[in-house]
This record gives sequence, structure tokens and C-alpha cells, in this order.
Amino acid sequence: MGNNELIEKCKKEAAKLAVDENIKNGMKIGIGSGSTVVFAVQRLGEIVKQNNWDVICVPTSHQSEHLIIENGLKLTTLNLNPELDIDIDGADEVDSNLNLIKGGGGCLLQEKIAAYFSKKLIIIADFRKKSQFLGENWKTGIPIEVVPGACIPVMKEIEKLGGHPTLRMGVAKAGPVVTDNGNFIVDADFHIIKEPANLDQKLRDIAGVIDTGLFVNMASIAYIGNKDGTVEKIEKKLK
Ligand code: A5P
Repeated sequence: MGNNELIEKCKKEAAKLAVDENIKNGMKIGIGSGSTVVFAVQRLGEIVKQNNWDVICVPTSHQSEHLIIENGLKLTTLNLNPELDIDIDGADEVDSNLNLIKGGGGCLLQEKIAAYFSKKLIIIADFRKKSQFLGENWKTGIPIEVVPGACIPVMKEIEKLGGHPTLRMGVAKAGPVVTDNGNFIVDADFHIIKEPANLDQKLRDIAGVIDTGLFVNMASIAYIGNKDGTVEKIEKKLK
């Protein structure tokens, strides 16, 4: 099996177990974005069809909206259903305290909103995403959603905090990436992040920053697909 194939298998196993163990009939479900979530929505579509379940899904991006529709699931909005039972999403990195870096796919704002208004955030990821501290494995920096007209002063402020910001540029599109909300993404490298809550607060204090891809103390459990076919569960430590 090639490396890409192995990674896809790990994502699929993690997604399947997370859906099978957590999703129940009647739930209101937040659907994250990215490549791992694809497997979760496919599994959810199968289960709902087989059992004739009634679940409704809130998307976190144009991508997840299309996924929900393609898999025959019911689409709704957070305004119609302000409290979700569960939110299932991928991550770019998961630390040992279940803090996350998200937004590699540029969908961090809607993902954070869905996670915040959900009773439980479940993360699904492959083995490459696990680390002790954020910044160990995810080297492109923290994705930060920024008002387009403020991106240069915001990047200067990020430098004052010790970060190395880069404006994310489009692929097969001239100019910066524009998010689903019409904003830009700045990726800010802070190397190893030992105090994510503190850094998140400082970044969000900058005028022009809409939100960051640091998800601190939000996830309840992460399902990590390992190379040997097992799925490791990392649960929130009770303090
Ligand atoms: C989307 O903006 C991200 O937050 C994704 O959830 C994250 O990048 C994980 O994506 P993959 O499942 O594709 O690794």
C-alpha cells in the first residue's frame, strides 16, 4: 500500500469509528470541513439510509454543504437550530490536551462557530496530526481569518507578538485566498506553542482579526487513525 493510500485508510477508520460510536437517531449534527470529514459524512449517509434515521446537518463551509447534499442528508442552518448535539470535524494538529490547530482548508471561522454551539466536538484525524505541543508537526503556522482591508497592519501586529505571518495565496487563482466569508487568511508561525489559550487571546485582541485556528479547550475526544489499522481515542482530561 502506498503512503497516500495508507493515510486515506487511517482517516477512514477514524471517521467510521467516530460516527458509529457517537451519532444517534434524531441528532442535530455540525459537519466540519476538509478531507477526513468526507469519510464521516459518507458513513453517516450510509447509516441514516440503512436505518431510516432522521438527523439534520449544519455545514461549516461550501464544501461541507455539498457533501451533506451529495450523501442524501438533511441540510439545515445554525439559525434554525441554535444548539447542536454533536459536531464532527478534522484538525491540522491535536496536542496532548486536545487543543487544536484548524483552518488548513480555510474554514476555521464557521468551524469554530459550529464547535462553540455544539454540546460535543469530536475530532477525526490520521496519525500525522498528533503531537505533544501545537506547532510540532503543523509547520505552516496558525491560520487566522482577517478583514481584507486590515491584513497588512494585522501582520505587523502578529510580528510584534513574535510570529512570522504569511498572507495565504490562492492556487489556480491570482491573489490571496478568499474565505467562504469573504475574508483573507494569514498563516502565522509561532514555532512550538506551549500556551495556546494565551496566544489565541492576544491574536483575537488585534482589531481586524476575526478569529484564529487555535481551538482551545473545545474538543471532547479525538479519534486518531494509526498506521497499524487501530484507532486511538484521546479524551479530554478532567481537571
Ligand atoms: C478546514 O479549514 C480545516 O480546519 C480542516 O478541518 C483541517 O484542515 C483538517 O483537514 P483534513 O481533514 O483535510 O486534514
